[in-house]
Amino acid sequence: MTRCVVVGSGAREHALAWGLAKSAEVIVTPGNAGIAAHGLTCVDVPATELDADLFVIGPELPLTQGLADELRAQGKLVLGPGLDGAQLEASKAYMKQFLHDAGVPTAAFGIFDEPEGAYDFLRRMTPPYVIKTDGLAAGKGVLVTRDWDEACADVRDKLSGSAFGDAGTTVVIEEGLDGEECSLLVLCDGTRAVPLVPAQDFKRVGDGDTGANTGGMGAYAPMSAMSDVDVERVMSSIVAPTLSELRRRGIDFRGVLYAGVMMSSKGPQLLEYNVRFGDPETEVLVPLYGGDLLALLSAVASGQLGVVPAASGQSAVTVVLSSHGYPESPRSGDVIDGLGDDGQLALPIEGITVFHAGTSRDDEGRFLTNGGRVLAVTAVGDSLAQARERAYAATEQITFDGRVMRHDIARSAS
Ligand code: AMP
Ligand code: GLY
Repeated sequence: MTRCVVVGSGAREHALAWGLAKSAEVIVTPGNAGIAAHGLTCVDVPATELDADLFVIGPELPLTQGLADELRAQGKLVLGPGLDGAQLEASKAYMKQFLHDAGVPTAAFGIFDEPEGAYDFLRRMTPPYVIKTDGLAAGKGVLVTRDWDEACADVRDKLSGSAFGDAGTTVVIEEGLDGEECSLLVLCDGTRAVPLVPAQDFKRVGDGDTGANTGGMGAYAPMSAMSDVDVERVMSSIVAPTLSELRRRGIDFRGVLYAGVMMSSKGPQLLEYNVRFGDPETEVLVPLYGGDLLALLSAVASGQLGVVPAASGQSAVTVVLSSHGYPESPRSGDVIDGLGDDGQLALPIEGITVFHAGTSRDDEGRFLTNGGRVLAVTAVGDSLAQARERAYAATEQITFDGRVMRHDIARSAS
């Protein structure tokens, strides 16, 4: 049987491993307690010491540390870009310059290392002010505000390194854009690019898009606000020039090019690229994918991407349950009620899979919170409304002290 290694330890990797396990022997490194409980093998061995027919790298960090290059140097088949392609996510300043060179529509911007220039730029802007940490900040390095004092304080904290350490000593300041946001995950095999169904992610911690930006509090797909024509427009105005620029720079990108797009009144604008599967978008996209995930991802990695099977016609919703204090200071060690020994719902509900983001187990085998995002409770249904109803019914069963969740995932769309 084909053997596949999935690198990472969150709900995204749980979903990928679960999808791949339908046709492959899967090993997750390092994985987590909930992934292991679900019957998937987890090992705490570096990917470079494992052997497999396909390696799928989940998170951005190992990609920006060159893991894909190392594995390819060993002759392995890998889904995920090398260091060169990963720069698109590792540095927002690099990404904005790349977009400029490629002619991709994106918010007007300035890049600053010193506060004075940044304040001057802010003074000339009309609010909202958008201030981004240059480097990796797990989705939390972006402030959007209309408050002048808050904007200035944020610039100061980011430039001094006190907010995000080394990731934050350069800032990108952007024009504020308005519109519906969409995550379009595009599979790229080095030459061809094929989009998955459009998904929507909920980045703010509170209902009604309030509070701090997080890694993502929930998602749904497909996104009915994105027509096939809209997807085509994103592919032609954003993805096609990106592929040309990658080629021009000699970057062989094999993996997921995740376009965070704002459907603004000026047309689609690129907010950011990620160079990997989105989290929690993957938790809705994998259960919706009707084909053989192993065959699809192997084709991407080997440069042989063909036609992707049509969408299943179903919808999926994922609601993330986070720990007390998320995102600022998440607490670990709270006992989770409502899960069986396999980490799934103790009282099953049709269409539900519980993907574990951050859980551990105690000596009695109970699941505990372990990190910021704890569980991604995912439902598939014949309609978005049905998927939503199922996901929220499941969240009623799973409780722990200090549980943080949103109640409006996919509400306005269903
Ligand atoms: P990013 O990590 O760059 O995708 O930014 C995180 C979130 O901040 C996005 O999902 C948007 O909701 C918001 N955001 C980023 N850039 C802008 C912008 N130029 N205008 C308005 N909102 C933005
Ligand atoms: N869902 C946002 C991300 O994966 O970065």
